[in-house]
Amino acid sequence: MSKILSIISSPRGGASNSIKLANAIIEKLKEKDPAATVQVKDLTKGPFPHLEEAHLNAFFTPADQHTDENKAAIKHSNEAIQEIMDADIIVIGAPMYNFSIPSTLKAWIDHICRAGITFKYTENGPQGLITGKKVYIAITTGGVYSEGPYKSADFVAPYLKTLFGFIGMTDVTIVRAEGFSVPDLQADALNKGIESISI
Ligand SMILES: Cc1cc2nc3c(=O)[nH]c(=O)nc-3n(C[C@H](O)[C@H](O)[C@H](O)COP(=O)(O)O)c2cc1C
Repeated sequence: MSKILSIISSPRGGASNSIKLANAIIEKLKEKDPAATVQVKDLTKGPFPHLEEAHLNAFFTPADQHTDENKAAIKHSNEAIQEIMDADIIVIGAPMYNFSIPSTLKAWIDHICRAGITFKYTENGPQGLITGKKVYIAITTGGVYSEGPYKSADFVAPYLKTLFGFIGMTDVTIVRAEGFSVPDLQADALNKGIESISI
């Protein structure tokens, strides 16, 4: 029985294509493992704060020396990391915003990348510390980035793959639904994305 953590970063609820694509991934995972549980974390409800001085002070102070202020500042980061540690599979919905990811998703990422906790530096370079996880990233875009003239602007997939790999989650599958703003493609964009899911 696997534990699935579903990360939502579109604020569009039932209309969101990245949520629909991510949910289609989860449905296919549940077909394979009907007993799988799903925990949903909606980053648009109670978003993570941008990193402020208080967060950085807490991140770079050893836990056994944490003041009450440090403990309060690091609480959300610790909880977010624990949620990932508790999961076997992480499914992330990532709409492209301005050639990048929504700032809510970036803020969450800034709270889960912690030197000494989720990665460390060794003699052989950086080493990710969150191992043994499977990650699916459901990327939805108005344009087309997997091929064609905008391929060189495909920043979301390489960024997220590199980022999760850096903290140890190297088994990343990208699923795309693209062309939601392209008249000839938009009607089939979601279905094509769902059909491309391979679990
Ligand atoms: C604020 C904003 C910025 C966007 N920026 C881009 C962009 O840079 N490139 C692109 O191809 N699509 C862009 N889009 C389109 C979305 O990526 C696309 O509609 C996606 O399906 C939205 O995901 P959602 O349905 O889960 O909200 C943008 C949409 C919004 C709302």
